[in-house]
Amino acid sequence: MTDNLFKEVMAIKESLGNSVVIPAHHYEMDEIVKMADFLGDSYKLAVDCAATDAEYIVFCGVMFMAEGAALLSKPYQKVLIPDRTAGCPMAEMIDAVQAEKCYQKLSSLSDQEIIPVVYMNSYADMKAFCGAKKGTVCTSSNAAKIVKHFLDQRKSILFTPDYNLGINTANALGLSKDEVVTVRKDLSLEGGNPKIAKMFLWDGFCHVHKVFTVEDINRFRHNYSERGLNHKDINVIVHPECNEDVVNAADYSGSTSMIWKTVKAGKAGSVWSVGTELRFVDRMAGEFKDKTVEPLRKSICHNMSKITLEKLGNSLKLVAEHLKNGNKVPLNEITVKEEYREDARKALQLMIDIVEGK
Ligand code: 13P
Ligand code: SF4
Repeated sequence: MTDNLFKEVMAIKESLGNSVVIPAHHYEMDEIVKMADFLGDSYKLAVDCAATDAEYIVFCGVMFMAEGAALLSKPYQKVLIPDRTAGCPMAEMIDAVQAEKCYQKLSSLSDQEIIPVVYMNSYADMKAFCGAKKGTVCTSSNAAKIVKHFLDQRKSILFTPDYNLGINTANALGLSKDEVVTVRKDLSLEGGNPKIAKMFLWDGFCHVHKVFTVEDINRFRHNYSERGLNHKDINVIVHPECNEDVVNAADYSGSTSMIWKTVKAGKAGSVWSVGTELRFVDRMAGEFKDKTVEPLRKSICHNMSKITLEKLGNSLKLVAEHLKNGNKVPLNEITVKEEYREDARKALQLMIDIVEGK
């Protein structure tokens, strides 16, 4: 980043005043985070975007997050993303056509009513599919609460697309092996008993989080105990998109915001190995200088990397032009197909209502 570019982008942002807000996800580059009005995990970003009155939301994250903001936006608001190719491979691992086939098959096998719950890391068709079937959305910060909400009503859950968040949630809620069934892409089923299963897990994954291993955790712990550090000061914290054995071996697991708060609250002098995206871990290492923070392994989300300062600057210039010349300026804003809008929004709103206890 050149200082000049940073100053230039900041000046455009300031000239736009309250017309624009810039939300950024924790995995974004430092210069983007510095430019952001709010920073958070995907739940916080969705709620903060829903609360803003700014006319333009320039979302620094990946496409499903920006689409979530567009779904919750007010009619006069416009959502932009600095690079439309910033996708999330996991979000593409299921669509509503596959989900419908899966839902029909599972409904014929299960004794209970099936409620679909889709991870925020998904597109509007999947959110709409869930909303139309009395289901909802969840994020890593609230998956257990959302799943429990339906289990308490004696419903079974079709959980998509992330298998790891699903199995780690099932474990946190104490479900037995019989109560969890894996659904493959060809709709074949594995493990558990479909008749009594409480969770059916689609087998999608995040390649950024699949790389962490229990050996990485053991190596880290061994390293610091060799140096004489008390085991109480050696901590491992991971994101629930990590494999089940990794989450089980870690001391803590949670959303990016939960990770940030937990490491921040850690004792001075303690050491933290963090199993999630590298840029975020490196930023915490710089921010929390009273402790040692290191990555469990170096793993980067290259889609988040697509949001550069230069591209953010271009989006802001477009906003400035649009403010001046109106609809003659093509904004390339994020829109959601009309056929998905209402049900997808309903699914997102139900998540917020359950989380906020409404
Ligand atoms: P958080 O909601 O925890 O920020 O996770 C989003 C994500 O995509 C992690 O890979
Ligand atoms: Fe998607 Fe993984 Fe990147 Fe999160 S870290 S946005 S799940 S690819």
